[in-house]
Amino acid sequence: MNREKKIIFAPSLLSGNFANVSESIKLIEEAKADWVHLDVMDGVFVPNITFGHKMVKDINNITKLPLDVHLMTVHPENHISDFADAGADYITFHLEAAVHSHRIIQQIKELGCKAGISIVPGTPVTALSELLPYLDLILIMSVNPGFGGQSLIEKTLDKIELLNTLKNNAGYNYLLSIDGGVNRDNAALIRQKGIDVIISGSSFFNSEIPEFEANLIRGNK
Ligand code: DX5
Ligand code: ZN
Repeated sequence: MNREKKIIFAPSLLSGNFANVSESIKLIEEAKADWVHLDVMDGVFVPNITFGHKMVKDINNITKLPLDVHLMTVHPENHISDFADAGADYITFHLEAAVHSHRIIQQIKELGCKAGISIVPGTPVTALSELLPYLDLILIMSVNPGFGGQSLIEKTLDKIELLNTLKNNAGYNYLLSIDGGVNRDNAALIRQKGIDVIISGSSFFNSEIPEFEANLIRGNK
């Protein structure tokens, strides 16, 4: 059975040029990407610091592409309304950073955004079981979050198959997204496992021709 679906391709600005964000967004648009992935890091939940909601708002003013905000912060509940106001379409927070994750999902949806949750490589899929009916997106981290350019941890790909089985059996609605270390060499395997959304930071932005790289990753002939 051919399990491949049409891929939603979401380049991550993390590997773009922070001194020339509009040029990086232009590259993303020229590659006919579907979404822009925006990594918000607080220097606490992850060691790195990136940007906040003002950046998301300004990007929202220069592109019509959906904005896929990945919050890598402690206390995500404190930031949801700012990112919703800034124009985020999807807001994804980390299960490991949240106490009242069900409430945060409700909070995101009440603000008119799609609700996503992410798990780091060390967190099992079973930790999500009570939340599955409510989620619009599950972001499987295939590296430990915090930095671009790391190598994909292949074991994490088992989570795609498991979450697809759970989704099909129960009729859940979430999209499955993979983030970290995706490149032209491992993308075919990831697609075969039934991923919906592929995020690519360094492989996209470090490529000589990002549009060509994008086509290889999403499996376009
Ligand atoms: C890492 C971020 C990723 C990152 C991926 O913590 O969540 O979105 O940009 O970068 P690559 O594709 O280089 O691993
Ligand atoms: Zn990310």
